[in-house]
Order: sequence, then structure tokens, then C-alpha cells
Amino acid sequence: MDKEIKAIILGAGKGTRMKSSKPKVLHEIFNKPLIGWVIDAVSKLPYDTECIAVIGHGAQQVEQYLNDNYKYVNTTIQKEQLGTGHAVAQAVPLIGNFKGSVIILCGDTPLITTRSLRNLIKYHEENNCDLTVMTAEFENPQGYGRIVRNFKGEVIKIVEEKDAPNNIKEIKEVNTGIYCLEWSKIRQAFLELKNNNAQGEYYLTDIIKWARDNNFKTLGCKIPDNKEIYGINSRKHLAIASKFMNDRHLEELMDSGVTIIDPRATYISPDTTIGADTTIYPNTYIEGKNEIASNCKIGPLAHLRGNCEIGEGCKIGNFVELKNAKVAKNSNVCHLTYIGDAKIGSCVNVGAGTIFANYNSITKEKKLSAVGNNASIGSNSVIVAPVNIGEGAMVAALSCITKDVETEALAMTRTPQKEVKNWVKNKKGENNES
Ligand code: UD1
Ligand code: MG
Repeated sequence: MDKEIKAIILGAGKGTRMKSSKPKVLHEIFNKPLIGWVIDAVSKLPYDTECIAVIGHGAQQVEQYLNDNYKYVNTTIQKEQLGTGHAVAQAVPLIGNFKGSVIILCGDTPLITTRSLRNLIKYHEENNCDLTVMTAEFENPQGYGRIVRNFKGEVIKIVEEKDAPNNIKEIKEVNTGIYCLEWSKIRQAFLELKNNNAQGEYYLTDIIKWARDNNFKTLGCKIPDNKEIYGINSRKHLAIASKFMNDRHLEELMDSGVTIIDPRATYISPDTTIGADTTIYPNTYIEGKNEIASNCKIGPLAHLRGNCEIGEGCKIGNFVELKNAKVAKNSNVCHLTYIGDAKIGSCVNVGAGTIFANYNSITKEKKLSAVGNNASIGSNSVIVAPVNIGEGAMVAALSCITKDVETEALAMTRTPQKEVKNWVKNKKGENNES
């Protein structure tokens, strides 16, 4: 962790094509804003990394999100969105006379991986480069800035599509918008950028030409999987990126020994880990951070909403929703159940239709409940938090549990069964007489 770097994440743009009152970088995939995915990829780099987010459109909302979730990220405001180069210029005072490498990324490319960022930085270092741009190749490069290389293979400039003549438009290698640069050498470029181009913007891409003019070494490092730099500008893009992210994670899970019966009908957040020999049945939706151990059966139609830990050999069946729930090994929650804010021991059976009522709508508080090992909850019970159900205890079907249950006790709150002898026969007799 000795190497110190800084990361600038651009997120001030409006995202007009999202047609939304929410800033673009706060749109979500698996319940996490786009900028959150980018920060996560940066944070996992094996360096001492300071993150600076440039925010502008909807700055208050973005700042709130960052404060709540990423306290360590600093922010700087770009009051007017005058272009990507102008956005980076807003971070210059914060970075000051820093001596190391700075990476620049966009807050709307949530698929970028830590591995690719690390490869970019390694390539930059190994080649003693001053400014390295991450590039990618597309069969249809429409919309992206094109990479122009010289005969030595060095990148000599980037031309935005709107400024490009036809011969440049034919280039299939594009700018991903991700860069690694030596701050002390390139810093000055941000103060000298001009906006004399088709869009009248201060282009970040012009730092390449600036670096060449000042005799610095500029290279391009091509990323093999162009999906990683997929940028989001519209709701359609958001759906496509969500699918890419899901597919990539499902493939990793399958490679590590998880059975996924139908990957087209399974959604698992990349923040969820799953042990080998667990089977995920179709129409299962798993969002947020969860740990699922090996040899479990999850679904069909299960919904895990985050912060769940499922021990080895558990069954989580159809129409079961879990949130902030721990289920220890070999327990079964097989049908039509909600478990929120609860800790379930091992070898517990939770009967069909059980509800853990965790929310008090008057106090607006959520409370925790616990169920000991080997306990059994009868079908259609309601467990009203906060309660503790002891080890080996039984809750009779259709009970509403509002008090703790002792170890190995039976708790039953339903009215006892009543039988009226010959009731049906007598009723039929009455009807026949009339
Ligand atoms: C940019 C690149 C282009 C590249 C593409 C990759 C420039 C001039 N062009 O184009 O070469 O192929 O990304 O996706 O850099 N932003 C600000 N402030 C601004 C403008 C933008 O913070 O004033 C932020 C946006 O929020 C976004 C990022 O910068 O996160 C990129 O901006 P965008 O307008 O999407 O740039 P592109 O036109 O896609
Ligand atoms: Mg873009």
C-alpha cells in the first residue's frame, strides 16, 4: 500500500438523455448508484488512493450520497459544465503539488474493473510514461473520441467525433475517458486548455496534444473487453449495463462452482458471494451485499435484499424475501416467508407463510428478533420484533409471537380448536324441513 495515487472521478454532467430529475451518476444498478460502482473499483486498488469527485448538476444530492456512503471521497464543485477538461481543472487546487500518478475516470461507466485500472497503472509505470490513455476497440465506434497514433504506436491526439473528418471517423480505437498521468508534468495542461472546437467545450482529450507539444511521453493501453467502459447516457444504456454487470457476475459464479439453472432469469449483485455447489433456481433476485455459503438451494423466486448471511446447506425457497437476515447452516425457509432484521440459528425450520414483523409504523423503528438452533416455527406465524425464540423451541402454526419463548418450550397463541358434534348433519336436517 506504499504507493500513493489520486483519482479524479467526473460526475458533474447533467445526463440530459436520462430524462430524469435525478443526476445521472445517482441512477442505480442493483440499488447502487453508478458513481458508487466506479468508486468501489478505484477503492480496491492496492494503493493508498485519495478519491476526488467533481460534482455539479444535482451536487447536493450527489454530495449527500457520497457523505452517507463514502466519507473518504472528497468533492469539488464545477459550477458550470464547460467540458471534461474544465471539470478536471476544478480538482487542481485540491491536488496541488502532488508528486505521484493521478487517474481520471468518469462517474457514468460502472462496469470498469479494478483489474483494468491496475493494468493501466502498471502499463503506465513499466513504460515510464507521462500520460497514458486507456483505449478500446469497437466495431461501431460511433459517439466516442478516436485515438490517433503515430508510426511508433504512440498516441498523438484524440479527435472527438463531432470534430472528426471522415478518415478519422473510420478509426475503431476509441478513448475510454480513463487516463493515468504524472501530475507534476501534466498539471499545467488543465490551466492552458482552449475551447475552440465544435462543441465550444474545454476538452480533457486535448491534454494529449498539449503533452506532445511539451515533449512528454503519451501512450495508449488497450483494454481487451470493451464492455467495461460502457458509458451510460440513457435509460436504454442503463438496462444494457445492468445486464452486462449481471452476466459477468453470473459467469464468475458459475466458473467458481455455483449452479445457475437459468442465467437469463437470475439477477445477482456483484457484491454477493456464493459458495461452490450452491444452486440458484430461476427468477431469483439478489441485490446488495450478501454471503451465501456452499451447498445451499436458493429459489426459485427468492428475493434477497442485502446484508444477508446464509450458512451451509440452507434452503431458501419460493416467494421468500430476506433482508438483513442471518440464517445459520442447515436451516430451511422454504415457502412464502419474510425475514427482515433477524438471526436464525442452525437446523431451524421456518414454516410456510411466516412473517417476521420487524417494523413499528408508529415509532418508525426496526427491531431485531432471534431464533435459536433447532427451533421450529409453525406455518403462518407472525414473529413481532423484538423477540427471542429459544433453542429447540416450537411455535405452533398460526401463532402471533410477541414475547420471548424459552428453550424447548411450545408457544401457541391461536384459539384452541372447537368441535360441534353433528353440526353439518343437523344443519342439513333443518333445511330439509323448511
Ligand atoms: C468523453 C470524451 C470522449 C470519450 C468518451 C468516453 C471528452 C471531450 N470526450 O466524451 O473522447 O470517447 O468520453 O465515454 O472528454 N463531465 C463533467 N463536467 C463537464 C462535462 C462532463 O463532470 O463539464 C463528466 C460527465 O458527468 C461524465 C464525464 O464527464 O461523467 C464524461 O462526459 P460526457 O459528456 O459523457 O463525455 P462524452 O461526450 O461521452
Ligand atoms: Mg459520455
